[in-house]
Order: sequence, then C-alpha cells, then structure tokens
Amino acid sequence: MPTLWTNLGLAAFVIYATIRAFWGSAYWVADYHYLTPFYSPCVSTGCTPEASHFGQFLPDVWWLPYAALSLPFLLAFRLTCYYYRKAYYRSVWQSPPGCAVAEPHSTYTGETRLPLIMQNLHRYFFYAAVIISVINTYDAILAFHSPSGFGFGLGNVILVANVILLWIYTVSCHSCRHVVGGRLKHFSKHPVRYWMWTQVSKLNTRHMLFAWITLGTLVLTDFYIMLVASGTISDLRFIG
Ligand code: FES
Repeated sequence: MPTLWTNLGLAAFVIYATIRAFWGSAYWVADYHYLTPFYSPCVSTGCTPEASHFGQFLPDVWWLPYAALSLPFLLAFRLTCYYYRKAYYRSVWQSPPGCAVAEPHSTYTGETRLPLIMQNLHRYFFYAAVIISVINTYDAILAFHSPSGFGFGLGNVILVANVILLWIYTVSCHSCRHVVGGRLKHFSKHPVRYWMWTQVSKLNTRHMLFAWITLGTLVLTDFYIMLVASGTISDLRFIG
C-alpha cells in the first residue's frame, strides 16, 4: 500500500479512536443493549451501570477512558503487530525504509534497543487481545435484546460482523501461528496442532487485509452505535 495512504489511514483511526475513547457519551443503547467496542468493558464508576457487565472499579476522572482496562492493550496489540510495524517502519520511522532504499539513520539497530525492543511484547498482547475478543463476543450476544425480550436489528448484524472479523484478525496473528504450531519438531506426531497451524497459516497470509478491514469495522461499529445512542437515527429492527 502506498506510504501516503498508510499514514493517512493510521492517523485517521488514531484520531477517531482517541476522540471517541474520551467522548464519555453515546456508547450504550439501553433498549437493545448495544455497547460499542471502544467502551468495552465499561469499568469506570462513570459508566452507565447497565453497560458495566464486569463491574465498576476505576475512578471517573477525565484522563481515564471508561474502557481503560482494554484500550491500552488493544492499542499495544495493534502497534506491535507485524503488519503495522512494516507499515510504519517504512512510512513513519524510516528504518528500514524499504528494499534498496538508503537508511537515513547512521546505524541500523533493528529491534535490539529501546524503544523498538518492546515489540517483543507482542506475543503477550496477543493473549490480552484474545481475552478482549471473548468480552466483545459476550457483548455481541447480550445485544440480542429488545424491550420485549429477544430481538435483533441492524446493530446486531454490525456487532456480530465486527466481532467475527476481530477474531479472524486476532487468530491470523503471527504469534497465534507460533502458539498453535511453533516449537514442534515433528508435525506428524501432532496432527491436531498441525491442522490448526495450517488453518492459521492460511489466514495469516491475509493478515494485512484483516488489519485494515478491522480498523474500518471498528470505526463503523462505533459510529453506528453512537448515532443510535445519541438519537440521531433509529436502529433498523428486524425482530423485536
Ligand atoms: S502480527 Fe498482527 S496482530 Fe500479531
């Protein structure tokens, strides 16, 4: 992808996500139990109590997002992602800028020193991302609610599609590939792990695509819920 588009895409997402994370309203649709992923889990004492599926134990202060328990890990997971690394090493960090392009820094130290040595934490952020995906899945299931019981609308379609794509992005992670099939000497002795590794490997070849798609679906999901929660539009209901 051209450098300019990479820069613009990442910058637009970071700006949108930061504004929304500190917005503090229009994140919960009470009638249908829609909770935007940018506020999940909502663990601040400032959260709407019904939106706090896991309790409220963080103080309500302006510099702390309501989902302060998940957002830093999600941000770290994305920032240390192998695909994003490649993108911003070439477009922002300029080290290495690309094949056969002169290195602007006097020496190339790769990921052996601060701050880039922190990229090695990616495998741990992967585990955090799995837990957060489970929480997002739980939110999407709880959202099959209407004032009269079970129901679903366009918001459910968006929430479920978003969570499926988040799982695909997470499972296609290089660390996941290593977790399921790494450090095996003989695949033939581990047929189940070998099968899982081949499936993850297939997804892994499209990791860049899933990285961009999920940036888009996260914004779309949040934006739709913001519009419904603020009363700007009504949810298109199919049942209930
Ligand atoms: S390599 Fe992209 S999320 Fe792990």
